Amino acid sequence: MSLRGCHRKGFQGVRNISSLPEHYTLPSGDKIPAVALGVWQASPGEVGAAVKTALNAGYRHIDGAWIYRNEEEVGQAIKQSGVARKDLWLTSKLWNTFHAPEDVEPALDDSLAKLGTDYLDLYLIHWPVAFKKDTSEVDEALTADPYPTWQKLEELVEKGKVRNIGISNFNIPRVKNLTANNLKVQPAVNQVELNFWNPQPELLAWSKENGLLLEAYSPLGSNKQVKETLNQPEVRKIAETLGITPAQAIISWHVQRGTIVLPKSVTPSRVEENFKVFPLPDDLFDKLEAAATAHKPLRVVNPSKGWRLGYDVFDDYPY
Ligand SMILES: NC(=O)c1ccc[n+]([C@@H]2O[C@H](COP(=O)([O-])OP(=O)(O)OC[C@H]3O[C@@H](n4cnc5c(N)ncnc54)[C@H](OP(=O)(O)O)[C@@H]3O)[C@@H](O)[C@H]2O)c1
Repeated sequence: MSLRGCHRKGFQGVRNISSLPEHYTLPSGDKIPAVALGVWQASPGEVGAAVKTALNAGYRHIDGAWIYRNEEEVGQAIKQSGVARKDLWLTSKLWNTFHAPEDVEPALDDSLAKLGTDYLDLYLIHWPVAFKKDTSEVDEALTADPYPTWQKLEELVEKGKVRNIGISNFNIPRVKNLTANNLKVQPAVNQVELNFWNPQPELLAWSKENGLLLEAYSPLGSNKQVKETLNQPEVRKIAETLGITPAQAIISWHVQRGTIVLPKSVTPSRVEENFKVFPLPDDLFDKLEAAATAHKPLRVVNPSKGWRLGYDVFDDYPY
């Protein structure tokens, strides 16, 4: 394992603190803001307004993807906001159909053009699954070995089109499979599902030990589980004790666990609410952590069946 050593705190989370980190420092030295606006399932006509509300509220990190099919509207909203590009953190993701080395740069160029920028702060391999060009048929070779795709991403870092590169939805064996190669650029982050229902304590602990920052997607449990998440007694207890909202309690828990957090909302009051994080007292943090890890894990996002993989993409490495 060649990932760099980690200076983040132990896996029980940051202890006895008076404020939560506003950013994390990546191996490149770049500082990535801890809270982002996620824009998956933010529809045309509403995503631009959400981005503008977010930038106005102080967000400087937008988590998008080519496949969300809203990069143009996100780009226009950024332009209209007047926030300088250098003050923004823009993440996009390489879709499964573009893993072939010759398709990687054109895919990035398309995202750059849509977003109206000439570089990304972070570009992720969206899933550890490659499809053959223009199909949803799995490319077994590039799925088993993502290194050729990664080498192309490394070239894009050298060219200055991307400042950091990372992965998404990689389990531990898949991370090891990639990092066993002689990488020029280590993955800066792994973006994975992390929420009350699927808190993944083993992956979190392992990632911290190996200096790989996690980004928490579907942090509220996505639209399927958000109501139940916000109704959990441990979440409500934190909200009541600190005089904050249940969503702020959960989002704060993520940052205190040492991850980036990517809540999505297109509701202006929620966008504003979700940006405010608060340090949780250790006892309340520990109770929420215990409750989240006490039940059987339940994922809200798993496309394995829909993609007819014949295995679960999150199970142990099948190759
Ligand atoms: N890498 C990947 O494969 C992957 C997969 C999934 C997600 N992601 C990223 O993670 C982001 C977030 O994930 P997600 O959209 O699945 O789920 P989420 O952020 O956990 O939940 C979004 C849902 O919560 C609601 N909500 C947001 N803030 C709220 C609040 N303060 N109070 C009550 N309800 C609230 C939203 O409603 P409204 O919008 O109607 O306000 C929406 O229904 C995505 O946008 C994307 O950037 C990445």
